[in-house]
Amino acid sequence: MAQRKMRLGAFIMATGHHIAAWRHPGSQADAGVNIDHYIRLAQTAERGLFDQVFVADSPGVQQQQDSVEAFSRQGRISYFEPVTLWAALSAVTKHIGFVATASTTYEDPFLLARKFASLDHISKGRAAWNVVTTGSENVYGNFGLDKHPDPEVRYEKAHEFLDVVKGLWDSFEDDAFIRDQESGIYFDPDKLHALNHVGKYLKVSGPLNLERSPQGQPVIVQAGSSEPGRELAAATAEAIFTAWTSLEEAQAFYRDVKGRLAKYGRRPEQLLVLPGISPVVGRTQEEADAKWAELQALIHPSVGLATIARFWPGEDIASWDLDAPPPYYPTPAAGRNSRHHVVIELARREQFTVRQLYEYLAGARGHWVVVGTPQKIADEMQRWFENGAADGFNVMPPVLPASLDDFVELVIPELQRRGLFRTAYEGTTLRENLGLDKPQNLFSVQQAKAA
Ligand SMILES: Cc1cc2nc3c(=O)[nH]c(=O)nc-3n(C[C@H](O)[C@H](O)[C@H](O)COP(=O)(O)O)c2cc1C
Repeated sequence: MAQRKMRLGAFIMATGHHIAAWRHPGSQADAGVNIDHYIRLAQTAERGLFDQVFVADSPGVQQQQDSVEAFSRQGRISYFEPVTLWAALSAVTKHIGFVATASTTYEDPFLLARKFASLDHISKGRAAWNVVTTGSENVYGNFGLDKHPDPEVRYEKAHEFLDVVKGLWDSFEDDAFIRDQESGIYFDPDKLHALNHVGKYLKVSGPLNLERSPQGQPVIVQAGSSEPGRELAAATAEAIFTAWTSLEEAQAFYRDVKGRLAKYGRRPEQLLVLPGISPVVGRTQEEADAKWAELQALIHPSVGLATIARFWPGEDIASWDLDAPPPYYPTPAAGRNSRHHVVIELARREQFTVRQLYEYLAGARGHWVVVGTPQKIADEMQRWFENGAADGFNVMPPVLPASLDDFVELVIPELQRRGLFRTAYEGTTLRENLGLDKPQNLFSVQQAKAA
């Protein structure tokens, strides 16, 4: 039997995932609005045979800090809208998939369905949608709302939103278009279906003014790990992005989400679990340690404190001793998202000082950081991959472009040598490369059943 292969995504965060990345000489300081930078990243990832590149997104400026000084030092504040960006990059790449984030809380389902189906056509079958309900609490004012909806409401709406978008994507059956110049018949109206959806949150008639895309539907990705997030993933997603820092937590999560699939009539391999890993690669351990230390030294204390302030709401943490553990660990308020639990548990388990905690989080914002040689990084990835914790990884380079170059040059060949990663793309669409089925058209299935 062929050896199971890892799926790899490059999670591209403008200047890099490290909070001080934009100050590092290996980064591109204006990355968020530099198309040449993104072209280079996508082409590098494709050279490394990555399945996909991914950008996170939120529809507004995120000011999590009270401190204006810390805010002014934040690098990730101005950046492209993802679908627009990926449409441009699809023209300068051939194989790599594009995962764009879009919000079910703040976007319109018809326009979103049209945008993503367009991206799937433009890229010839390489589009994916990272479905988020939007975690940040301060963008509602951009959309005429008076507050950020509660998580339960956001997730309930997300289920309905996904049904609508998928229904719109199937507006035309696969063989609806005849385009016979001889007879003059362009398409078969019997194969066009209006959705006529009326639900709790949405009312959308359809049909979509765009035929079914090369993948049938773009790949659905989900990135919430709370109870309702896991349920949404089990019901609808084909890949789930997640953040764990220990093998045991990652295994428990993997078992949990895979275990939820059966009740939706789905098989475990129809949902790929992709935890994040932020690798700091050196040719020797010393070189990797030195790279990490160089980055950590670039974190300004006001920025560091601002990254952890939200975990201790209402507390004047600036007065705490940076070189002692936090004086107490709060219990996250009900309704707080799963990230709060992960971070506080990590701080308690490691007995980090305040400085160590913010330095750790700044590295990859609570994701898993591995500092070492290509062999050490491959060992860790293999351990998770072969022990029921991951189907692959979201690789989160700390500094861009430098750390993606390192990964492609040094770690990919090591994974290939071990038979854990492909040596050529298998298919032409993202679905084919990820080993995911092309979804059947909803209306064709209904009609076949009725016949
Ligand atoms: C790897 C990863 C990427 C994410 N990307 C985004 C994003 O781009 N935009 C966003 O609003 N939330 C993003 N999230 C957050 C989740 O979608 C979700 O809102 C958050 O985890 C809180 O929900 P939860 O309580 O269900 O986990 C991401 C989470 C992870 C783990």
